[in-house]
Amino acid sequence: MLQNSTLHRLTMSYKVLFTGFLLVIGVGLLMAGAQIMLTHGMADGKPGLSINDIVYSYYGNRTGSKLESMLNGQMKAMAPDEVRFDLIQWARDGASMKDWEGRIKPQVDQYCVSCHGGESSLPNFTKPEVFQSVAAVDSGASIASLTRVSHIHLFGIAFIFLFVGWIFAMSEYTQRWKLILISTPFVFLIVDILSWWLTKFSPVFAWLTMIGGVGYSLASTAMIFTSLAQMWVPREHWLSFWENDKE
Ligand code: HEC
Repeated sequence: MLQNSTLHRLTMSYKVLFTGFLLVIGVGLLMAGAQIMLTHGMADGKPGLSINDIVYSYYGNRTGSKLESMLNGQMKAMAPDEVRFDLIQWARDGASMKDWEGRIKPQVDQYCVSCHGGESSLPNFTKPEVFQSVAAVDSGASIASLTRVSHIHLFGIAFIFLFVGWIFAMSEYTQRWKLILISTPFVFLIVDILSWWLTKFSPVFAWLTMIGGVGYSLASTAMIFTSLAQMWVPREHWLSFWENDKE
């Protein structure tokens, strides 16, 4: 049975108000998608969002440090092999400061400081703590940044879903699907946030992040389109469409 057919009977002021809100939220969702592609999408060095991007963003790339990947890549020509291997070994052993004076500093001074000496914008390797930081294993998002982003997301996005769901609750729709569509975004938002934390500790949870994001985007899109259609398309056009699958 179709319930609560109030949306199409709203006065023009409310229709315009709700339409403005839903359109802005719709554009906001598209922007959020684009932003995810640009920030997380490039985390594994390739465009497009993949499971690896999510793993690198939250769990980090724990197979090695920036120092190791640079010494095997762009910085390969800067030092002879035995120096590179010794620096990599030191990074893998935990980049201990007690090896700095006797073992590490002389090699860095000889092969790296000509460019990494602080005159340019490159990291300044005359400072031991700077060299140590590029030698640290990349362990992804910090707890501090996860806490910050999580609470901003939960508070901010909950309001978006509240109003989108509120407007959609006035549409004509089968009761069961209404309840599913209204609750889905909240459930998937929790799944999404939870998955960041789980991924921080184990990369197997990265797929939950994908499911969470896709889940609430689809549910919001369905609610936005339904609400807009019922406000602006004459009732007889969409009624037959929705009545076909009434219970
Ligand atoms: C001829 C100049 C030069 C020398 C010598 C040099 N580097 Fe570099 N290094 C660069 C440049 C330029 C970059 C920036 C590359 C980029 O971002 O694409 C860089 C970037 C790096 C980075 C990445 C820094 C970051 O935070 O993104 C590391 C690590 C690094 N170099 C390590 C070394 C080590 C170790 C040595 C010595 C064995 C060394 N480099 C010697 C020019 C040099």
